Amino acid sequence: MSDGTAAVEIEHLVKRFGNLTAVNDINLEIKEGEIFGLLGPNGAGKSTTINMILGLLPPTSGRVLVNGIDMQKNPNLARNNMGIVTQETVVEPELTAEQNLMIFGKLYHIPEPELHRDIDFALELADLTAFRHAYAGTFSGGMKRRLEVAKSLMHAPGLILLDEPTTGLDIQNRAKIWDLLRKINKERDITIIMTTQYLEETDQLCNRIGIIDHGKLIALGTPTELRQKIGMSSIIEISAGRDDLQKVAKAFERVGLEAKMLGNKVTAPGGSNATKKIEALIKELSAMKIQIHNISMHEPTIDDVFLKLTGSEVRDTAGEYTGNNRSFMVRGGR
Ligand SMILES: Nc1ncnc2c1ncn2[C@@H]1O[C@H](COP(=O)(O)OP(=O)(O)O)[C@@H](O)[C@H]1O
Ligand SMILES: [Mg+2]
Repeated sequence: MSDGTAAVEIEHLVKRFGNLTAVNDINLEIKEGEIFGLLGPNGAGKSTTINMILGLLPPTSGRVLVNGIDMQKNPNLARNNMGIVTQETVVEPELTAEQNLMIFGKLYHIPEPELHRDIDFALELADLTAFRHAYAGTFSGGMKRRLEVAKSLMHAPGLILLDEPTTGLDIQNRAKIWDLLRKINKERDITIIMTTQYLEETDQLCNRIGIIDHGKLIALGTPTELRQKIGMSSIIEISAGRDDLQKVAKAFERVGLEAKMLGNKVTAPGGSNATKKIEALIKELSAMKIQIHNISMHEPTIDDVFLKLTGSEVRDTAGEYTGNNRSFMVRGGR
């Protein structure tokens, strides 16, 4: 498995669209055998980065090496070893699952006997064997996604890239995709690079995470490293009337919490003894006779990570490029 060889090297990668810098000087190395997650909100620059790794979009500057091969100079060779699952659904609805895989295999000139074996194998992996003769158009979102993953595996690549493979899926279907990705990573030794908007997804799946915002890589590490770095085992939140918020923030500071005000609430990472801190907070607040509306503690979400790293909340969908029919997005809320 991983011998420390780089599957993908990204050097000073920049992409500008007019005045907008969508990807801003990203440096990154993904090792063979990794499941690497690029995590960020809508419009952060995930797809632009992925599309440059895939050689579908020319960088403004910088370069991408895949297995040591320069994507700009030798795109066909570099892409040989890659499977792709794009953000849009690309299965052919009027073809069966098997036929979908068949055309793809033929595209890659896989000879007949192997083609059938590969199709069986891909369907089995994607848990779609029972649906082999069903039309892809009748599939649920999750099944279509699994079929796409199966398709990306047809030419036996050593690396697959998936752009938001689980966005818009319900939790059961997301879990199925996670299983599938773990399986192909472990059993077939395939390096995986994926993007996501969900923090818990990277926790579930990824050996390493890069967090991207405004085209910049703002954090990089294992899920555990990142949690430690951000000091976020749990998040404490208290909402109160506008006039009381300053005082609530003071109370946070008095019990040793790093408070941030956000809308009608004050929030802070709770650290390792969050429950104790909450008790202390309640004492402080009742001594100050402050009326609080709600108090809660929860696992950090991507919003919390962003708040901590950037000091601002995750932007809404406003930043999304809407020129190509993929602007719809349901953000993972809490
Ligand atoms: N072809 C394009 N032309 C102009 N702007 C674009 C284009 N593609 C993406 N952008 C912009 O670049 C930024 C990053 O977009 P994108 O990489 O799609 O983000 P993400 O995949 O993280 O949601 C956004 O502000 C988006 O509007
Ligand atoms: Mg995208």
